[in-house]
This record gives sequence, C-alpha cells and structure tokens, in this order.
Amino acid sequence: MPIIGVVGVQWGDEGKGKIIDMLAADADIVARFAGGNNAGHTVVFEGKKFVLHLVPSGALNPNTKNVIGNGVVVDPEHLFKEIRELESAGIELRDRLFISSRAHVIFPVHRELDISAEKWKGAGRLGTTGRGIGPTYADKAARTGLRICDLLDRDHLARRLRALLTEKNENLARVYGRPVIDIENAIDSAREYGEKLKPFVHDTGALLRAANARGERIVLEGAQGAMLDLDHGTYPFVTSSSTCAGGFAAGTGLPPRALTKLLGVAKAYSTRVGEGPFVTEQNNETGAKIRERGREFGATTGRPRRCGWFDAVAVRYACEISGVDELSLMCLDVLSTFEKINICTGYRLGSQSYREFPAALAVLDGVEPVFETMNGFDQDLRNCRKYEDLPKNAQTYVEAVESMIKVPIVKISIGPDRSEIITRAEVVSRAGRTQR
Ligand code: GDP
Ligand code: IMO
Ligand code: MG
Repeated sequence: MPIIGVVGVQWGDEGKGKIIDMLAADADIVARFAGGNNAGHTVVFEGKKFVLHLVPSGALNPNTKNVIGNGVVVDPEHLFKEIRELESAGIELRDRLFISSRAHVIFPVHRELDISAEKWKGAGRLGTTGRGIGPTYADKAARTGLRICDLLDRDHLARRLRALLTEKNENLARVYGRPVIDIENAIDSAREYGEKLKPFVHDTGALLRAANARGERIVLEGAQGAMLDLDHGTYPFVTSSSTCAGGFAAGTGLPPRALTKLLGVAKAYSTRVGEGPFVTEQNNETGAKIRERGREFGATTGRPRRCGWFDAVAVRYACEISGVDELSLMCLDVLSTFEKINICTGYRLGSQSYREFPAALAVLDGVEPVFETMNGFDQDLRNCRKYEDLPKNAQTYVEAVESMIKVPIVKISIGPDRSEIITRAEVVSRAGRTQR
C-alpha cells in the first residue's frame, strides 16, 4: 500500500498544507519528518482557515492519525498552545496525535539563543523564524540535546538539562550579554511538560513500520522546501534539517525503500522569507503585485514574503534531488492579469552560463536569470475545474514549466480552498498512475 511523500521544491510555503490535507482524506496516517514550528501549513475549507505549525496537516480530517516523527524538533510550550487552539476550533487530537519519544526538545533557551545569534550576526543574519530550530538541531548533532523520552525520566532529565543549561548560560552571559536561565525552574517546567506529554509519546518508528506492514496508507509531510535543505539548499541561508525526500527515512524510522510515490509542490512563481540568494526575485512593482495578489505574508511570522518569477533551474534541481514523480503547481490564479510572465530557464554570470544550481554563494549572488517570456492571461481562474477550462495561455504556461522541470504536473491549484484544484486527467493517464 502506498506511502506518499510530499515535499516543497522551492523555498517553503509552496502550498504543501493544502495538498497534504487533501491526501489526508484518504490516508490512515500523516507523519511529519523534519523541522519544527518554523513551518506554517495553511488549510482552507468551508470559509475557515487553519494554520498548522507543528501538528501535522492530517489534523483536520477526523479519521486520520498524526505522527510527529523523530526528525522533528518539538517545542512543548508551542505544542500545547497549538493543541489548545485546535481544540477550541473543535479539532480533537487526543488518541490521534503520536509524538516520537526520540524527537528532540526545543527549550526556551534555544529560542533565546536563536534570537541572540541573529542579532549577533547583524547584517549577516539568516532571517530565521526565531523558534529555536537551529540551536536545537545543533545540540542534537553535538549530542548535548534532550529528547522527548528524556523529559519522562525525572532524574535523568535533571542531570541532562542541568549540564546543557550550565553551558548555555555561559554562552548567554559571556557572548551575548543576556540574562541567564534559572536552571532549577527550567527543570521543574520541563518535568511538568514531560507529565503533560506522556499520553502522546510513542515509539512512532515502530508504529509507522507496523502500519506499513498492515498496508495502511501513510502520507509523509515535508516541511520547508528543497532550497532551505541543510545540505542541498542555499547554505548558510537554509534551515537546519533535511527538507528533501532524503530526510524522511531518518526522520520517521521507516526504511527508505518504503516510499512508493513522491509528490513535489511548487508555486507558479517563487517566494522566499528571510535572507539569502533569490535569483528571480522581483524587488519592484511585479514582486509587489505578486505579493498583493497572492497575499504573500509568512504563515508563521507574518513577514512579507519576497516574490519573483518561477525558477525552473532551482525547481528542476530540487525535483532531481528528491526524485519527484509528480508535481502540484499552486497559486496559478495569482498570475492572472499579468500581461507577460517570465520563467527562468538558466543563470548567467559574465560569459559563463549555468544550467545546474550553483553551490557557491558568491556565484548565486552574482548570477543573472535568463528568462523566457510568455503571454499572460486575464481571466479569473478560480471557477475552473477542468484543465480545458483554463485559458489557453495559462495551459501553455503550465506546459512550458512542465517541460523545463521534466516532471508531470498533475494538479493545478487555482485558489486557497480545498475545492479549488484541477487534476490533469490526461497527464495522469499518460503517467500511468492513479490520482485522487
Ligand atoms: P506551506 O507552508 O507549503 O503549507 O504553504 P503556506 O500555507 O505557508 O503558504 C501557502 C499560502 O498559499 C497559504 O496562504 C494558502 O492558503 C495559499 N494557497 C494555497 N494554494 C493556493 C492557490 O492555489 N491560490 C492561492 N491564491 N492561494 C493558495
Ligand atoms: P513551511 O513548512 C518558509 C526559513 C526562515 C529562514 C530560514 C531559517 O511553512 O514551508 P529557521 O527558523 O528554520 O532556522 O529559519 O528558513 N523558513 C521557512 N520559510 N517556509 C517555511 O516552512 C520555513 N521554515 C523556515 O524564514 O529564512
Ligand atoms: Mg508555510
């Protein structure tokens, strides 16, 4: 039975939440494998909008179980706030939310260090979400971090957290000139969270492997996007986890070969929140118009998103890294009313041209995009339900993107709501795959 992975193939915020929510209607389990509450995944239906940060996007389908895998970093304070908010909207998560005992814990000190490090970097800051993601993954790699299971063992917790905070306090006081953390208070608070977490904590790797053996349908929910991947993204302007498909096995405990299909999600243009190279950025009226039409403001921090044209060099690279089988192209409606639409087909720096995504920041900062210009379309797309309903120029645009990234575009999203989606039947049958 299928295990379907869903990953963003740009800089995050591609519309993964909408696609995962749709797939969740037919899934037994939705499992997050990386990132933390730096993510903001939006789902809109029946006039209601939900933004999920740490809780997987299967939450809005009452019959779907939701797993926070071992690769995720969990801020207990945030988690309980999110659970409360969902519960007050009538979404019950008891017995439906399973948190890995191996997931690492974000403590308040990690948030403090994230924000302090950003200030310290000044103009060289990354523009993080300030959620403590980087410092928590750094402690995980340094083997000084605490896992959820550590919160459940009172004595062990006290020993590990005391050791961690003693070192962090030095850092806070001496490097950043910040007030130190009261270690005994922090231990008490962590013990309380341990008690509250208990009913949710499981060996989620074992749970997922057993569900897979029973033939249950599992959706693996990617967070962020390929260009924010710690290894493959625009380092150092990246997040601290593996956001590409390669991260799912390490982040869930399912074997790599369990994956049966990989779906990529991309917007019909590009956005980026935070600092770092963005070759097709339109820091002008075009970018402002995309931002206004697409309501491009961060779902987590509310920051205006930087906007630009579709970058086929970056998306093709991202699709290759993850082995994307099929792509969902989101927010095509946002491009209507543009007289001309550009697609970036290559990068140029002096006499040198690049078809592969460059690694060096100096190159990425210096290259110019090579654009292919397409005719735009005027019509409002939001009532289109079949591919043939789309204006001819919109179809030509979709097909141009498809041929540049070399992945079939099977779904086209034309509005935020669950219902605003087009399935391209003929592509699906050509690909010989079944689609919802
Ligand atoms: P995610 O992080 O990948 O889940 O994406 P976000 O939720 O951060 O950002 C995507 C934004 O686009 C959200 O506000 C969605 O409601 C919205 N959205 C998704 N699909 C469409 C679409 O086809 N058209 C428009 N106009 N908005 C969309
Ligand atoms: P979703 O899952 C967009 C960006 C931040 C910053 C960089 C590092 O909603 O697509 P971090 O706090 O992770 O250390 O910040 O990564 N970033 C995202 N941008 N969507 C996201 O998640 C993001 N998660 C992190 O803005 O540039
Ligand atoms: Mg988002």
